[in-house]
Amino acid sequence: MITIKNKKEIELMREAGKVVALVYEELKNKIKPGMTTYELDQIAEEKMKSLGAIPAEKGYDIGVKGVPPYPAATCISVNDEVIHGIPSKNKIIHEGDIVSVDTVALKNGYNGDAARTFTVGKVSKDAQRLIDVTKQAFFEGIKYAKVGYRIGDISNAIGTYVQSQGYSVVREFQGHGIGADMHEDPGIPNYGKAGRGARIEAGMTLAIEPMVIAGKPDILELDDGWTIITEDGSLAAHYENTVLITDGEPEILTMTKQEKAEMKVK
Ligand code: MF3
Ligand code: CO
Repeated sequence: MITIKNKKEIELMREAGKVVALVYEELKNKIKPGMTTYELDQIAEEKMKSLGAIPAEKGYDIGVKGVPPYPAATCISVNDEVIHGIPSKNKIIHEGDIVSVDTVALKNGYNGDAARTFTVGKVSKDAQRLIDVTKQAFFEGIKYAKVGYRIGDISNAIGTYVQSQGYSVVREFQGHGIGADMHEDPGIPNYGKAGRGARIEAGMTLAIEPMVIAGKPDILELDDGWTIITEDGSLAAHYENTVLITDGEPEILTMTKQEKAEMKVK
């Protein structure tokens, strides 16, 4: 069931989204070569708590036998790690790395979900292009996050754009509705046919999240039950925001005003 949020719920979604935006502002300023992914996770968790939110990923249980509940406030996936990397005191971030962070803030019963891929010091041109394309894929997608379109239009726009840039989208994971639950209907694949899927309506809140691989689309799961890596060892990037469907342009709930101003989006 796709939930339509009322005015009060929309206000709470905005608040949860703002927390996530501020967490990323903090991480962007603090990420440095030599840090561990554990330290980065701690910074995110503290920032989130200081803003009155709970890290919703911590303890999150996908309900699959043998997969332990997720142990941290963030997923941190470095270079060829695609998503769900578990922060570790043994994992040092190096100059030239690309670091994807995905986190969910739960505040007053509502969730905000976003992901960013950060650069550490100077990165290769190829790495930067992958990050730029992944971000742009989100913006290609939300051109269709409007009343009158269907979920498949968002999926198709993302997949078509990524492919046109010579990259691959991950097929095994997808975006999703979000609200009182972190994962709600509908699922939002990053590829697919236009004109298919649920009709988009005002009051829906959607987490749209292209996961892009520089090489082949195939992925592997590590023995920790969580970390997803590229099979061919190529780099991966992730970009996600929670968006509110309105009667006009979608409202991006997980970007700061400054982040929006820098890109001139609403
Ligand atoms: N935040 C992720 C998403 O974008 C979910 C991560 S799984 C978790 O949907 F266990 F870490 F929460
Ligand atoms: Co998500």
